[in-house]
Amino acid sequence: MAQEKRESRKGRAAWRVFWRVFFSILALLTAIFLYYLLSSLSLSVETLSLETKAVSPVRIVQLTDLHNTQYGERNEKLIALVAAQEPDLIFMCGDMLNRDEENTEIVTSLISALSSTAPVYYGYGNHEKTWEKRCGRSLKPLLEAAGAIVVDNDYVDLDLNGNPLRIGGYMGYYPLPHMTTADKSQQEREQAFFRDFEDTERIKLLIDHIPTGWVDWDYVNNYPVDVVFSGHYHGGVMRIPIIDQGLYAPYVGWFPPFSKGVYSGTQAVCVLSAGLGNDSRFPRVNNPPEIVVIDLIPKTEE
Ligand SMILES: [Fe+2]
Repeated sequence: MAQEKRESRKGRAAWRVFWRVFFSILALLTAIFLYYLLSSLSLSVETLSLETKAVSPVRIVQLTDLHNTQYGERNEKLIALVAAQEPDLIFMCGDMLNRDEENTEIVTSLISALSSTAPVYYGYGNHEKTWEKRCGRSLKPLLEAAGAIVVDNDYVDLDLNGNPLRIGGYMGYYPLPHMTTADKSQQEREQAFFRDFEDTERIKLLIDHIPTGWVDWDYVNNYPVDVVFSGHYHGGVMRIPIIDQGLYAPYVGWFPPFSKGVYSGTQAVCVLSAGLGNDSRFPRVNNPPEIVVIDLIPKTEE
């Protein structure tokens, strides 16, 4: 009887140790998750320099995938952060609003505010395209009235700091062969845009929301576009700490090989931003919303 009691006491003590260890590990993992979750709420700045044919530096701030998020009252924190970078140009690279929300005021007031800092070039994402289809009207007049230069499968040429630039925006089927359309005339129009866009000695800067062709299908080695500015992957939404690996990206699925950063080829460089917001069921974790500051600089003499 005494031995049975001793064994039962031992058993209870072992369970107590087990549950203590279990809850300690659980608390630690929860704390780590919360830390990474909270760290993904504040804005960050990624800066990089790219050597191009530029004869003098040009500074671009890239914003993408805002998804109607607001940082401070009327995005005042985001506006101040962009202004502090003193950009020559601001590129908005699509999905700045949400396809299933009427609200266009967040993005138009952001454009109005940022237009006093630098010219805002606006390329569409899949959300702008779907918004237009759903609402049966064009966003372009609204964005232009707010002060943006909309480049929707279109481009403009300009000279800046002595640099001849061509700035284009593309959102469509080509160069995405898996997104085929029965509308052959649309494909032809888009291909004609690309042929025309590429046919210049100017420095070619292309806002192309969807990076898949460039970073997953080797287009950086095939299409002569100097710099491509993309988003869409949201940095993989959740990033695994230590190995800094994104969890998921549309079209490429789980553990995408490349979901943020600079992807270089022989013909083009793709700057893939993790963006500023989210439209996924999962929160951004270990993945701070970011603006990207890109300095185009002259090539250094060898
Ligand atoms: Fe997006």
